[in-house]
This record gives sequence, structure tokens and C-alpha cells, in this order.
Amino acid sequence: MNVRDSEHIIAELKGKENYSLTDDSSNADLILINTCSVREKPVSKLFSEIGVFNKKKKNGAKIGVCGCTASHLGKEIFKRAPEVNFVLGARNVSKISEAIKKDKFLSVDIDFDESSYAFGEFRNSKYKAFVNISIGCDKKCTYCIVPHTRGDEISIPADLIIREATKAAKNGAKEIFLLGQNVNNYGRRFSDLNHKKMDFSDLLEMISEIDGVERIRFTSPHPLHMDDKFLEIFALNPKICKSMHMPLQSGSTRLLEQMKRGYSKEWFLNRALKLREMVPDASISTDIIVGFPGESDEDFEDTMDVVNKVKFEQIFSFKYSPRPLTKAAEFVNQIESSVASSRLQALQNRQEEILDEISKKHLNKIYKVYFEEKRSNGMLAGRSDNNALVQTEGKDEWLGQILDVKITNPRRLALYGETIF
Ligand code: 5AD
Ligand code: SF4
Repeated sequence: MNVRDSEHIIAELKGKENYSLTDDSSNADLILINTCSVREKPVSKLFSEIGVFNKKKKNGAKIGVCGCTASHLGKEIFKRAPEVNFVLGARNVSKISEAIKKDKFLSVDIDFDESSYAFGEFRNSKYKAFVNISIGCDKKCTYCIVPHTRGDEISIPADLIIREATKAAKNGAKEIFLLGQNVNNYGRRFSDLNHKKMDFSDLLEMISEIDGVERIRFTSPHPLHMDDKFLEIFALNPKICKSMHMPLQSGSTRLLEQMKRGYSKEWFLNRALKLREMVPDASISTDIIVGFPGESDEDFEDTMDVVNKVKFEQIFSFKYSPRPLTKAAEFVNQIESSVASSRLQALQNRQEEILDEISKKHLNKIYKVYFEEKRSNGMLAGRSDNNALVQTEGKDEWLGQILDVKITNPRRLALYGETIF
């Protein structure tokens, strides 16, 4: 989401304000730091980064802080770092032109509605296009700061999404990557009360009909909204890449209630195993938090049980980090950091064993790989339909093409193979 917000900011500044990009901060007229606030670490990094940029920057250059930490700290940023010229919240990106023109500009309103704003065009990749489908989040997971920094959920009008995806496909992007905090809740609320009633499955079907779109990915869906219609369209529509992110957070129904996730361990297992049955080649990734307040050994065992049953292809695992404004930060039964660390280690060790098992299954398989990048080792890299990172020797002109690759050396983090014609 932040990567796309940065693209939007760059598009506005290039298209309307005549700026161009530079990697050299000592030569920049404007230094922007786009921030996350989901866990504490990036927030503390912000102030040290501001200090570093302030020392390096040329005379008169401005520093702007954008994103979720801007939303949540607001004018406090000016107090702690007076060298900052403006603060622009995660839901106020469209005001960037105004921000650069005024000193100490502050806009962190989480009720600001930019769901219908047509941003300028800038993309880091020519091959893959991120397209936002909603802003904000209506869930109130008790550990999560996002609803407090990005506000309530509003779906972006379907015609704006289709227009953007069509344009990206015309410019050569074969892959459309849909973004939202909760993508499969799409259509719950539009700013325009007369907007046609539709849901995420309808949107997926519409995007798959666009000429030139060969692959569709999305993140993140919520396990609670994985109804049968959604799983069926996922399974049957050939343009939808067969990789699903299913953020588990915890395998314990008791903790899931405390987290206000809205589903149980059984529901999650039912959906994940149904998906495995419907699309045996699909990959499933997840997010897991360990050390949530009150997490007992039994709760953690439930998480490990789900991990052992689903055998995720990828796990993003985090130690619980108490965040301001959230309910869970007030819970009295916070867990010792050392206990959380050892659970994290146990989870990651088990996942490595699972990955060794999984990677063996890729040997001699043939995958369609969309080549997007030349690596520093000289190899071409791309993703298979089911999101495995594949690397092979190849020619530069293969970039932007989807080619068959036979896997000859599957490793934990990447599969190596040979292109076959
Ligand atoms: N502590 C640790 N991890 C968190 N996440 C969200 N909030 C917190 C927190 N307070 C994780 C969740 C989410 C991912 C983006 O970040 O797993 O899915
Ligand atoms: Fe945060 Fe929950 Fe919304 Fe995800 S669904 S952004 S974890 S509140």
C-alpha cells in the first residue's frame, strides 16, 4: 500500500509540479519519507532518518513526512523534528501539491475522502501495475493501528479501477495487482450512494475481461469474507493467479476473539483446506502474530497446529508490538518479550522444515513465469502463477514475457530452472 502511495506522490509531483526523481539526497530539493506505523520499529527509525537527511540535504531543501506515522503523530512530528516542513497523512496523499507550497503544512484528517481522486500516472515497474480498490479499513482488530491512520473503508468506484487497469494493460503491464486493506470486502460502501451494487468477485470478473490483462493478483483478503462464491471465482478464473494470502494472525479461537478477527480456528482451517482441495497447486501465504496479550502455551500450540495442517508456502511472522490508539495495548496481560521471541523462533524453525518439504515438490515441474527483473547475479527472475520466485539464465528480451520454465534446482527461497520452448 505504501509503495503505491509513493507512486501516487511521485506521479503528482512529476506530472503537475515539474519534479523529477533523484537517488542523491544531497542534491534533492525535496526529501519525502513515506512511513509505516504497523509496528513500533519503523516509527523509531523515522526520527533518526530525518536527522540523517537533515545533515545531508542541501540548503533550502524541504523534508516531508508522509504515510501512517504522519497520520498518527501529526503535529508532534514538528515538535520532535523542527526541520520537517510538512506532514501529510496516509489518507491525504492527493494534497501533496499543496503541501510542498506551504511551510509547516499539516494534513492528517482520516475522514478525508480521496476514494474518487484520479491520481496521475507513475509506476516503478512496466510489467506489473498496482491498482488500489479501496481506502481505509472497517475492521477494528484490537492490535492494529491502521483504522486509526487510514480511517474508515471506502471502495473506489469500479469505473475508475477499470480505467486505470485498462491504461496499465495498454502500456504493457500484463499483471494487475489489486490493493486494499480488506479486498474481499469490496463494494461494502461507496462514496456515491448511487454506485452499482457489486462485490469483489464481480470486480475480479470485470478486470479479467480487460484486453491485455493476463494475470490478476490481490492483497489482502480477509479470511472472514472468503465465501464459496469468492473461492469458486478464484479457482475457476484462469487469469487469477493461484496464490492466496490468508492472514491467520493466531490459530487460537480464544485469541482470535480477543483480536476481534471475526472467525474461529475451525473456519480458517475449513477455508484453507477447501482452497487446497479446489486448487491443489495454489500457494497460500499468511501473517502470524506471536505474543499477543494473554497468549498461553495452548494458544500458541493452536497456531502451530494450523501451520502444520495448512503448510503455508510463506509465513510473515511478527512479534506482537503494542501500538498507540489500539485496544490490545491496554490489555493487562502483556506477554514477556523473551517468551514471544522464543515462540517466534519455534514458529520460524518449523516453517523452515515445511519449506524444505514443499520445495522438493517443485522439482521437474513446469511453471509459467512472468519475467520482470534482471538480478545482480545476471539471472532473470520472475514469479510463477502460484507466486514462487523463479530464476533462470536468459536473454534481456525475455523481460516482460511469460515463458515456461522447468524447475531443476528448487531451493527454499527461490526455484532455479531452465526455460523451455
Ligand atoms: N504487532 C505485530 N504485528 C502486527 N501486525 C499488525 N499490527 C501488528 C502489531 N500491533 C501485522 C499483522 C498484519 C500485518 C500487516 O502486520 O499480522 O496482517
Ligand atoms: Fe488492521 Fe485488521 Fe484492518 Fe487488517 S483487517 S488493516 S489487521 S484492522
